[in-house]
Amino acid sequence: MNDVRLNPQASTSTARGHERCVLITGATGAIGGALAKRYATPDTHLVLHGRNVEALESITNACQAQGARVTPSSVDLTDDSALGAWLDELCANRVPDVMIACAGKNTHPQGPGELEAWPELQALLDINLTTPIRMTQHLAPAMKARGKGQLVLISSLAGWHGLPTTPGYSASKAGIKAYGEGLRGLLAPYNVGVTVVMPGYVSSPMCDAMPGPKPFEWPPERAARVIQRGIDANRARISFPFPLNFGTWWLAVLPAGISQWLVKRLGFGQ
Ligand SMILES: NC(=O)c1ccc[n+]([C@@H]2O[C@H](COP(=O)([O-])OP(=O)(O)OC[C@H]3O[C@@H](n4cnc5c(N)ncnc54)[C@H](OP(=O)(O)O)[C@@H]3O)[C@@H](O)[C@H]2O)c1
Repeated sequence: MNDVRLNPQASTSTARGHERCVLITGATGAIGGALAKRYATPDTHLVLHGRNVEALESITNACQAQGARVTPSSVDLTDDSALGAWLDELCANRVPDVMIACAGKNTHPQGPGELEAWPELQALLDINLTTPIRMTQHLAPAMKARGKGQLVLISSLAGWHGLPTTPGYSASKAGIKAYGEGLRGLLAPYNVGVTVVMPGYVSSPMCDAMPGPKPFEWPPERAARVIQRGIDANRARISFPFPLNFGTWWLAVLPAGISQWLVKRLGFGQ
């Protein structure tokens, strides 16, 4: 298949009888990498995606050392035909049991009153919103046909209410949250679960680059543990940490004027 670009260091081991297949994008990042390590057991086939080839090789080696069979990929997730060809080939071998669409990016305005630069914002919408939806469109029919599967979409607590420090990011995360919530009811009769994950601050290059305060920051390993537990229980929503989730949830339910005032008071204004 022409558009499939599996890395040369891909595991050469063959499929094992009863292994579970877990597909993780953003596996070269902090949260995706921590999730990959949590899922890396001898009864698991991990399909790990990342663009940074060195980081991908490193996470592949770490997961193989834990006994998992690993197939790494750096296919362009934002190229619709390449993405489709890759997922079709994966499904022809084995439909993934779990898809975790973790790849994502952030942008923020460069100065007071400035909008985010369009090329950056467009790239953000592509990877944070369009790509996970396209992946779902490819994988959900195969999971439905098999009568089993779990789709995991990574939103953010920034999806509860738009933040002036990251309006585009908030929009993408609110969008993927709403999509996942809708999809869950649509696919439940076919035994396909959908989980929306809303992390607070988790230590990572992306988190480090964000402006504004970062209360209750968690290490990625802790986030991955909570996310995996929620996925295994087919929870509709996994949101953490509790104090920040509770606070930001209020922003979504309070009258908009009060929420706007609170956002500014909390230090997220421009
Ligand atoms: N960290 C937080 O505080 C936080 C909070 C809420 C939600 N989240 C969400 O959690 C997810 C993971 O974030 P993280 O904290 O682990 O960030 P990270 O360490 O910066 O990792 C980001 C990952 O996304 C991948 N990626 C970015 N743009 C891509 C593109 N165009 N195509 C393919 N892959 C792309 C990166 O791949 P390469 O490095 O290989 O290019 C990397 O693996 C994101 O969706 C993020 O929005 C994070």
